[in-house]
Amino acid sequence: MRGHQPVPVITVDGPSGAGKGTLSHLLADALGWHFLDSGALYRVTGYACVLEGVAWDDHPSVVRVARHLEVAFTADSAGEVCVAYKGLDVSRDIRTEQGARGASTVAVIPAVRQALLQRQREFRQLPGLVADGRDMGTEVFPDATLKIFLTASAQERAQRRYLQLLEKGENVSLARLLEDIEERDARDSSRTVSPLIPAEDAMVIDSSRLPISDVFSAVMKAARERGLA
Ligand code: DC
Repeated sequence: MRGHQPVPVITVDGPSGAGKGTLSHLLADALGWHFLDSGALYRVTGYACVLEGVAWDDHPSVVRVARHLEVAFTADSAGEVCVAYKGLDVSRDIRTEQGARGASTVAVIPAVRQALLQRQREFRQLPGLVADGRDMGTEVFPDATLKIFLTASAQERAQRRYLQLLEKGENVSLARLLEDIEERDARDSSRTVSPLIPAEDAMVIDSSRLPISDVFSAVMKAARERGLA
């Protein structure tokens, strides 16, 4: 691109289970843009600690793991994203409830967030980036062209997660999932660094009763209005 025009970014933030991943993938596919799954970086950090024998509450060691995180994202032949830590495929391990707990626990450590900041910004490449996370619009890409904050009730998100896990063959209780989601929401929104809150200029969408196709249409309309599509 000539001059100093920045690479365009669409940020998609919100609590887990609101449909951010699905929406972000649809947007990246439709626009032909890159995709950043920032949650995966936090998940790999938490899981790498397990593999390296580092306790999540041993902050100096967790920070060391985050700073030297050897992580690679590749697409397999079916187009599925594969996440590798030190060459080991951890795609499935990081998507478990333990993976989610680890991510949420290490994500409260300011120096871990700092260590992952530059790594996330490196995903910003032409022709554009769709960034999925919690603080994409507030901290990582504050100059994004379009910021979405996608939310849904905890009950609805627990139900969706329950169905997803059942499909994967994981045996979980809906009540326990709801409890986990509420606990994680509380931790994510109350932490002092980068709490989960919508950016001031974000478009807030509640997907509790909206099919993802409607959410996608609304966001594409907003993208077109900003000259992104
Ligand atoms: O999006 P996810 O469920 O994969 O995220 C897992 C955890 O990582 C989530 O509980 C909070 C943390 N996270 C974060 O703090 N900041 C981000 N940008 C993305 C995820």
